[in-house]
Formats: sequence, C-alpha cells, structure tokens
Amino acid sequence: MKTYNTVILGAGAAGMMAASVAAKTGNSVYVFDHAMAPGEKIRISGGGRCNFTNIHASSQNFLSANKHFAKSALSSYSASDFVGLVKKHKIPFHEKTLGQLFCDNSSQDIIKLLLDEMEATGVELALETHFKGVTKSETGFELELESHGKRFTVKCQNLVVACGGKSIPKMGATGLAYDIAEHFRLPVTEVRPALVPLTFSEQDKMMMQALSGVSTDAKVSFGKTAFDEAILFTHRGLSGPAILQISSYWREKQSIIVNLMPSINSFELLKKGKQTQGKKTVQTILSDHLPKRLVAELAPSSTFKGNIADIPDKSLHSLSERLNSWTLYPIGTEGYRTAEVTLGGIDTKSLNSKTMECKSVAGLYFIGEAVDVTGWLGGYNFQWAWSSAFATGTAISKAL
Ligand code: FDA
Repeated sequence: MKTYNTVILGAGAAGMMAASVAAKTGNSVYVFDHAMAPGEKIRISGGGRCNFTNIHASSQNFLSANKHFAKSALSSYSASDFVGLVKKHKIPFHEKTLGQLFCDNSSQDIIKLLLDEMEATGVELALETHFKGVTKSETGFELELESHGKRFTVKCQNLVVACGGKSIPKMGATGLAYDIAEHFRLPVTEVRPALVPLTFSEQDKMMMQALSGVSTDAKVSFGKTAFDEAILFTHRGLSGPAILQISSYWREKQSIIVNLMPSINSFELLKKGKQTQGKKTVQTILSDHLPKRLVAELAPSSTFKGNIADIPDKSLHSLSERLNSWTLYPIGTEGYRTAEVTLGGIDTKSLNSKTMECKSVAGLYFIGEAVDVTGWLGGYNFQWAWSSAFATGTAISKAL
C-alpha cells in the first residue's frame, strides 16, 4: 500500500493546479483520473484555444447560494496571477473580447503548463485509474482504486476532490464528487446543466430551424439579469453566448426576453421610415440593422406588403414589440450532453472559503466545478478552477 501526503481525484484544471501548488514544499502528491489523457476539457475549451481566464473576474461573475464565498479565493489568486504563470511559460495569448484571454495557438499549451508544473514539483500522475471507494481513518483516508484490472489501496492525509460536475459525460464527467459528498454527509445544492443551449416548443422550434445558422447581437434577459452578446438560431432552438449566459439563470416555465435591436427603439425607427422613406419596404429598413433571413421570418412580405407608408402604425407597433422585447418560453435545455458547466454542487456552507477544506471532515477538500460556484461564460470557470485549487494547494503546502 502506497502512502502520500495528498491524493487528488481528477486531473482536470483544478486538480492539476492544486497538485503542483501542494507539492511545492515537498509534499508527496498523487493525482489520478479515469481518463486516458489529463485536462480533456481544457483541450476542447474555447474552440481549441482555451479561454483560460477573464481579466475582469470577480465574485459578481459567479452564481452560488453564497455570493460572497468565492471572494477570498479569487482575490488570493486572481486572473493576473494566472496570467503571470502563462507568461512564465512563454505561452502566447490575446484578449478576444470582454476581457476574455485565449491562447494564440492551442489549449494544449495550458495542459502542458500544468503538466510541466506538476513534473517540476514531483507530482505523480496516474491515468486510467478508477475510484472504487474511500474510507476515513484516524490519520486520513484510504482509497480503493483500480487500474488495468488491478485493485490497490492508497493512503493519504489529505484528499482533494477535483473531479468536476456532470457536464459532458462523453468527456469523462461522472458526478462522483456529489457521491463522495453524500458519503461524508455533506450537503449538495441542486445541480443542473448551465451555459447550455435552450430548447423550445414545436412551433417555436420550426421557426428557429428555418433560421438555423443565423447569428445576431441581442440583449437577452431573465428577470433583472441581462446579457448583451450574440445569439445563434440552431436546428434545436437557441444558442450563442447571450443564450448560454441566461441559461444559468432561467428556470422552467418562465420566459426570457430577447431584444433583437438593443440600441434601437424599433417602433421609432419604423415610424421615422414611414415618414421619411415611405416608398421603402419594412424589410429594406430593418435589413440595415438585422440579418436578412431574420427580417424575412419576423416581418414576412406576405404580412408586411408594399410601401411602409401604407402599413398601419398598429402593425408596426406589434412588429416592434417582437423586435425589442420578444418573449420566449423555453421548454428546457439541451442538458448535460452539451452544457459547458454544472450549476450548483457541494454546498459552500460546508467548506472553508480560504482553503476549500470541509468544516466537518479534516483533510477533505472540494475544488473547481464540483463546488457550488459557477462562473459566467468567458473564462470565469477556469479562473475559479485556478483560484480554488490555489487556495487548497497553499493550505496543504503550508501545513507541512
Ligand atoms: P474538469 O471537468 O476539468 O476535470 C475533472 C477531471 O476529473 C476530469 O479529468 C475527469 O476525467 C475526472 N473525473 C471525473 N469523474 C471521475 C471519476 N469518476 N474517476 C476518476 N476521474 C474522474 N471554461 C472557461 O473558463 N473557459 C472556456 O473556454 C471553457 N470552455 C469550455 C468548453 C466546453 C465544451 C466545456 C464542456 C467546458 C468549458 N469550460 C470553459 C468550463 C471548464 O472546462 C470547466 O469549468 C473546468 O474544466 C472545470 O475544471 P475542474 O478541474 O473542476 O473539472
């Protein structure tokens, strides 16, 4: 039986980061993962270029039952700290938009960074290694593992659970963190797919299918929460950054409001067009501001025929309501199959916000997506992985 100071479950963003930080002062650290390769989600993130942080990251960009919980970790290890690490490894990067930092070349650069940091600190990494059970002993934990048909036990003083949430099972997500929490009688908040496309009733879906591939800037709101980013019509419903963002807030049976012309009062635009460009069609006037296919669907020439001068204000008014505050009732989401993250997770009430250690089980830590801290789209989720991992890694390294 092998004994380590620290065992980390999950060689994803949070697990690998925590490993090298914990091992910096000479701790023996063992990271295991059931996947064949480490950091699989990093690899596919950001369209293959990994949006590894957001320079504006603060606790306001995260959803959690306790909105203050993430503050300490995010300020102890901020976006600029991770950028420092990226620069140390000479990884070229750029800001795309809204403070989102991406690799110039490939997400593999971030995976290599984490692997190099682990190698430099002597971390042991075991892939294709499966979790079979855990028991708490007086001095720590005993884990039953299996690799290539062989069962073995490892002992440790600290166990760090960094195996993420349930999103994208095809990429190895299992929800094991919640089972481990349950095993140790720790509360888990409701979990649901987030940053995920929304689906609609047959009637709305048919219209969205007709517009599949059309993208436009919009303001999408749910209650008081709104995002100004692109939306994308797909053959399943609606996607695009603004929809993914609002999906984390939307709840069943509730509506979202889509403003397709957020900086324009469309009724005033159409009224002005009627007065000054009366011989033009509604479609021509709107096409200066919206994709032509979208205009054809929302203002079909069968309904809005001929010169705008001849169209009653009442009709223009009802059209403008759709353009500026289109009320849509999603029927669901595409689920964990395509969700970028899992909303909810290990209840932060049971964790120390400075270390991520469980208040009721000494030496047990939960970090990354497994915890009930979920970021917006745009590099925030990786920043949470780095910050929460750094908090745990530092606590472990200092305790030596
Ligand atoms: P993560 O899921 O990364 O790692 C968990 C590890 O645990 C995995 O290696 C998994 O194999 C392992 N594991 C799971 N169950 C196990 C079990 N039972 N036994 C053993 N091992 C197990 N975020 C962002 O900030 N910028 C971005 O650009 C993107 N892009 C993006 C694209 C797509 C398609 C997805 C799905 C997600 C993103 N994200 C993102 C979100 C981001 O990937 C996510 O928040 C982090 O990867 C979470 O890091 P963790 O280390 O907590 O979990």
